[in-house]
Amino acid sequence: MDARLDQKFPCAADMERAALKRMPRFIRDYIFCGMGLGGAVQRNRDELDRVKLCPRYLTDADHVNFATTLFDREYDAPFGVAPVGMGGLAWPKAGEIIAGAARQHNIPFGAATYTTATLESLHQHAGPCGWFQFYHPNKPEVADDVITRAKNAGYDVLMVTVDVPANIRRDHDTRNGFAIPPRLGPSTVLDLVMHPVWSIAMARSGIPAFENLLPYIPEGLSPDDSIQALTDMVVGHVTPKMLRVLRRKWPGTLLVKGILDPEEAVLCKKAGVDGVVVSNHGGRQLEAAPAATEVLPAIRKAVGPGFPLIADGGVRTGLDICRMLALGADFVLMGRPYYYAVAAMGEKGADHLMNVFKEELRCTMGQLGCSTIPSLRDRLVSS
Ligand SMILES: Cc1cc2nc3c(=O)[nH]c(=O)nc-3n(C[C@H](O)[C@H](O)[C@H](O)COP(=O)(O)O)c2cc1C
Repeated sequence: MDARLDQKFPCAADMERAALKRMPRFIRDYIFCGMGLGGAVQRNRDELDRVKLCPRYLTDADHVNFATTLFDREYDAPFGVAPVGMGGLAWPKAGEIIAGAARQHNIPFGAATYTTATLESLHQHAGPCGWFQFYHPNKPEVADDVITRAKNAGYDVLMVTVDVPANIRRDHDTRNGFAIPPRLGPSTVLDLVMHPVWSIAMARSGIPAFENLLPYIPEGLSPDDSIQALTDMVVGHVTPKMLRVLRRKWPGTLLVKGILDPEEAVLCKKAGVDGVVVSNHGGRQLEAAPAATEVLPAIRKAVGPGFPLIADGGVRTGLDICRMLALGADFVLMGRPYYYAVAAMGEKGADHLMNVFKEELRCTMGQLGCSTIPSLRDRLVSS
């Protein structure tokens, strides 16, 4: 751990504050805000804060070990990077930087379908730690092509996100006239001028585009029509039948992301899926959706002890990771924090944040008297 960086940014909250100051408003709102008035983002935090863990001190837990085996692979820690679409807007090459750090730390990196880098290049950075997040295109030929590309690139894990069934309205993006590339009206230009560090870094590296999906955008469309075409490409529900077809097509690990209902977790298990990600998409889809924390225990009960559950939403510290694990998750993902870390510190940000999470996890488990991950479940104080 770099001591100078640690003094300046000892926790994810410090990195978030610095990143939010550095980014222009239209980018900050895209990453930070949730659906509607932000109720689900707030709920993710509030519900995590409600989870209490009771320490035990008269125990032999001096040597903490949190290496975790998931889908036949041992990771150095029970947390990874959630897929963040257009994450390259936070800072130039943020996805590539975070993917490389994840590989160094031997933790999973979720490469989003809607990225500013191709899925092939992200796999080169993440190596065997790369998981590919898949929005199911509604045109079969596009779906098959993306799956074949992911397979050929070398991904072992396909994570199908199911919580984007319909077009949604994000008020803040509409208000800001959010577009890729940005529309350069007077307010955007002022926004860029007021945030020179970000603006200069982006100007040097070039304006990010939907690099991964360029082959599927019809030629000659305006920027607005291109975005609409990309959005329309994945609109529609993913059904259990589609999951069974995917199961036959994908030889590796198949995950479903965006499950909040215990019965749906069971449907996934029955369709042959290898695990689910309990998630409300960082509060970005349905403002009334429960936090993963609220539904995890019921989902664990429904699927039984051996079925892998991964959870995300609002996790910002090693303590939060312990809370999710105590509630029944096997593994935890974080989305925004890594992108804030890179926006605040550039190249070194993701590595520093991963070090911080590992240290926080070590300290918290030591304090709880837990030397292993499974023992965290005994520390949950039932409300
Ligand atoms: C800006 C942004 C873009 C996202 N894009 C995607 C995406 O393309 N696919 C997906 O499955 N989840 C996406 N997510 C959700 C994350 O994978 C994850 O569920 C969420 O960020 C977890 O909450 P946290 O940011 O509070 O850690 C996105 C989240 C953010 C903040």
